[in-house]
Order: sequence, then structure tokens, then C-alpha cells
Amino acid sequence: MNGTDVGDVPEEQHGLRLLDYLRDVSGLTGAKEGCGMGECGSCTVVVDGRALTSCLVLVGQVLDADVRTVEGLEAAGHAALQEAFVARQAVQCGYCIPGVLNSCSALLDREADPDDDAIRRALDGNLCRCTGYNRFYDAVHDAACARRTAPAGADAGESS
Ligand code: FES
Ligand code: FES
Repeated sequence: MNGTDVGDVPEEQHGLRLLDYLRDVSGLTGAKEGCGMGECGSCTVVVDGRALTSCLVLVGQVLDADVRTVEGLEAAGHAALQEAFVARQAVQCGYCIPGVLNSCSALLDREADPDDDAIRRALDGNLCRCTGYNRFYDAVHDAACARRTAPAGADAGESS
């Protein structure tokens, strides 16, 4: 979980939704419950590099997986993405943003310079009722540029 081995998860927790495990067991409340049905994306986290809706995943399905939540974004090298969302004023109420950031970070881990179509596809499952999606696109482009031009090791979660 966010680069830390959580050890053995008690069997009675295997049937929990990953969303509930994150919020209620692990205290990682960045992932938000919206619809609870896999349709809004506010609960999106990154599992083994893929953005997944944590309301539809059971803990028992991801026991050996790498799970990244919004709390782990900076350590995973995505500080520039978070900063770009702030700089582009891409956040209004903020409810959708952890899921949006997780989807965008998974995209940037796959593609160094995604175009608008790739960003649109990555955000296909993330609903935002407040913000124009164009600001998300601008922020992802800014973050991609910052990551490409950063000195080696910068923004990669490495402590010096
Ligand atoms: S709460 Fe999981 S997709 Fe809406
Ligand atoms: S910023 Fe309010 S739902 Fe996206």
C-alpha cells in the first residue's frame, strides 16, 4: 500500500470492499464514495498500475497487489501533477479529484506525453460535476512536461 508492506490482512477483512478497507481500516480517506456502483470514479485508486474503482474491488482480490491511493501520489513521483491541478485551478469542490488524480497518474506512468484523446480515455470513468474538463487536460499536459524536463531523480519520490 503506497509502497509499504501491510503484512497479512486478516481473513475477516478479505470480503471488505477495497474502498472500505482504505477508508475505515487504513485511515486513507482520500478515496471517496460517490455512487458505490462503479459509475462515478470518485473511489478510483491505482492497482498494479491500473486505475480501478475501489468500490467494486474486494480486498481478497488484491492481497498481493500494489495499491496506490492519492496519499501516495507524491512519493510515487506525481507531485508535479498535484501542483499542476492547483496551478490550473482545476479543483472546485474537490470530491472527484483524488480519483481524477489517480487516473491521470496511471496514465502518466504509461505515457510520458499523452495527447487529449489519451487523457479523455483515461478520465472516461471519472465524473466531475464542477469543473470544465479542459483544466484537467491542461494540468496533465503541464505535469507531463514537468516530468519530462525534470532533472533525473527529481519528483520521483526520492529523498536526498
Ligand atoms: S463510488 Fe466507486 S465508482 Fe462511484
Ligand atoms: S471538482 Fe467538484 S466534482 Fe469535480
